[in-house]
Amino acid sequence: MSAGALTRTGANGSGAKVWFITGVSRGFGKALAQTLLAEGATVIGTTRSGDSPLGHGQGTLHILPLELTDPAAIRQTVATAFGLGRIEVVVNNAGYGLLSSVEEATEAQIAHLFEVNFHAPRRVIQAALPYLRAQGAGHIVNITSIAGVAPAAGSGYYAAAKMAVEGFSQSLAREVAPLGIRLTLVEPGAFRTDFLSEHSLRRGESDLAAYAETAGAARRRLAEMAGSQPGDPDRAAAAIIAAVRSDSPPLHLVLGPDAYARARQMLDAFSAELETWRHLTLGTDFASGGAPSA
Ligand SMILES: NC(=O)c1ccc[n+]([C@@H]2O[C@H](COP(=O)([O-])OP(=O)(O)OC[C@H]3O[C@@H](n4cnc5c(N)ncnc54)[C@H](OP(=O)(O)O)[C@@H]3O)[C@@H](O)[C@H]2O)c1
Repeated sequence: MSAGALTRTGANGSGAKVWFITGVSRGFGKALAQTLLAEGATVIGTTRSGDSPLGHGQGTLHILPLELTDPAAIRQTVATAFGLGRIEVVVNNAGYGLLSSVEEATEAQIAHLFEVNFHAPRRVIQAALPYLRAQGAGHIVNITSIAGVAPAAGSGYYAAAKMAVEGFSQSLAREVAPLGIRLTLVEPGAFRTDFLSEHSLRRGESDLAAYAETAGAARRRLAEMAGSQPGDPDRAAAAIIAAVRSDSPPLHLVLGPDAYARARQMLDAFSAELETWRHLTLGTDFASGGAPSA
C-alpha cells in the first residue's frame, strides 16, 4: 500500500496524543476514535475498505486500509502509520466472536478466528515494537474480553483466542516495562456494538441437541440480548482513555458491571480452589528440593 492510500482529514489538536487503532469502522474502535477526535487528538485508524466512517471533530484523522488476515499488510500498515510520526498509543481493537460448542466449530472457523483475534494483534505489536522501543515510550492497549478471563459455555474458541492475547500480553508487559512501554488489557462485558449482529458474529456449523442447555443456551441468550446489551461503547471509550492517561495505568481494565461480576466470581472460585487443593499443590517437589521455577 502506498502513502497515497491515506485518507487524511482535520487539523492537528494541540498537544494531544497520537493513537493507532485497528477497526474504527464500527463499535468500540469507532467510539474510541470519535471521542479522541472530538477532543483534538490525532487518530490513525484502520478499516478494511479504507473508507472513513468518521467526522474528524477537532482532531486529525488518518485512515489506512487493513485486512487483518494479511500479515504483509499489517507490517506495511504499521510502518506507514509510524512514518507519519510518533505514535503514543497502539490499540488492537478489531475482532469478532465465534459462538459454538467446542465440538461443533470447524477447522476453518477456528483458524480464521485465531488469525484475526490473536495473530493479528500479535503481528501489529511485533511490527510496532521497534518504533516504540526507539521512542522509549508508548502504550499498547489490547481489547480482549471478559471471556478471556472467565469463559462461559459456547465461546470456547473465542475465549481461547482472547486468552492467548491475555497470556502473551502479560509476559510482554514485563519485557517492555523497563523500556518505557506500558500495556493494558481491556476486558469488556456485553456492550451495544455490532458484536452480536449478523454482520459480525459467527456461529458453529451445527446445533447439537447434546449442547442445548450449555452452548445452545448461550446462543439463545446472546440472540435475545443483541441490540440491547447494557454496555455503552462511548462510556467504554472514555474509560479506556482515562486508564491510558492515568499516572499508573492498569494491566487489566475490566469494563461493565456484568464483566466485574464474572471476574469477581472467577477469582473467588479460583482462590477457594487453590486453598482447597493446597495440600496436593504443595506436595510435588523433590524431597531434596531444587531451583525455584520462573
Ligand atoms: N461488544 C462487546 O460486547 C464486546 C465484548 C468483549 C470484547 N469485545 C471485543 O471488542 C473488539 C471490538 O468489537 P466490537 O464490539 O466493536 O464489534 P463490532 O462492532 O462488530 O466491530 C468489529 C470491528 O472489527 C473489525 N474487523 C473484524 N474482522 C476484521 C478483519 N478480518 N480485518 C480487519 N478488521 C476486522 C470490523 O471491521 P468491518 O467493519 O470491516 O467488519 C469492525 O471495525 C473485538 O476485539 C471484540 O472481541 C466486544
